[in-house]
Amino acid sequence: MKITYHGHACFTVESDGHRVVIDPFLTGNPTADVGPDDIEAEAVLLTHGHGDHVGDAEAIARRTGATVIAPFELAMHFARLGLNAHPMHLGGGHSFPFGHVKLTLAFHGSGLEVGDRIEYAGNPCGFLLTMGGKTFYHAGDTALFGDMQLIGSRHRIAAAALPIGDNFTMGPDDALQAAEWVQAGVVIPMHYDTFDLIRQDAESFVRSLAGKGLKGQVLKPGQSLEL
Ligand code: NI
Ligand code: MN
Repeated sequence: MKITYHGHACFTVESDGHRVVIDPFLTGNPTADVGPDDIEAEAVLLTHGHGDHVGDAEAIARRTGATVIAPFELAMHFARLGLNAHPMHLGGGHSFPFGHVKLTLAFHGSGLEVGDRIEYAGNPCGFLLTMGGKTFYHAGDTALFGDMQLIGSRHRIAAAALPIGDNFTMGPDDALQAAEWVQAGVVIPMHYDTFDLIRQDAESFVRSLAGKGLKGQVLKPGQSLEL
């Protein structure tokens, strides 16, 4: 499994000739290393309806024919746009040609900004994405919650992307507790430095992981991790 970071909460994940993209916020993301036209993917996984996650999902799905995989209400938004959509919901898993996806809890909002109003987009989620026998936990935008212990104890997680930006999600202190509970092989910080409001010292976060005997890795946009 190869995980490539594209800034904010966007990752492409590849294995055995398959590739998916998670939360493709590229246009308008000052940290993104690629544009929407550079993304080739067979599925677009969306954690929730906020613009910094949905991002370029519509353009990518329209150009590539990728299936949009998201919580039901958000998936239906893309189905109404005439795109391939696969609705799921919290706690549910499904096997796709590229691998297995299971939706986890995430404590956050999910409204879609459509014009000057907010369209209901259901619950936000995280993803347990298994490809090539390895599982990547993308926590989505979330607060710290105790059931992360359950996620960690019930799944062998090779890598976990945890938000550290604070303000909208967990900050570094809560993310450190999350990492202790999730027990991933490696923790990748995300959802920081995109905007002034969420500036964080990711290297310092990784050092505090090491202080707890946990492995962390800062990925700069464009950098990959091979598991
Ligand atoms: Ni959000
Ligand atoms: Mn966000």
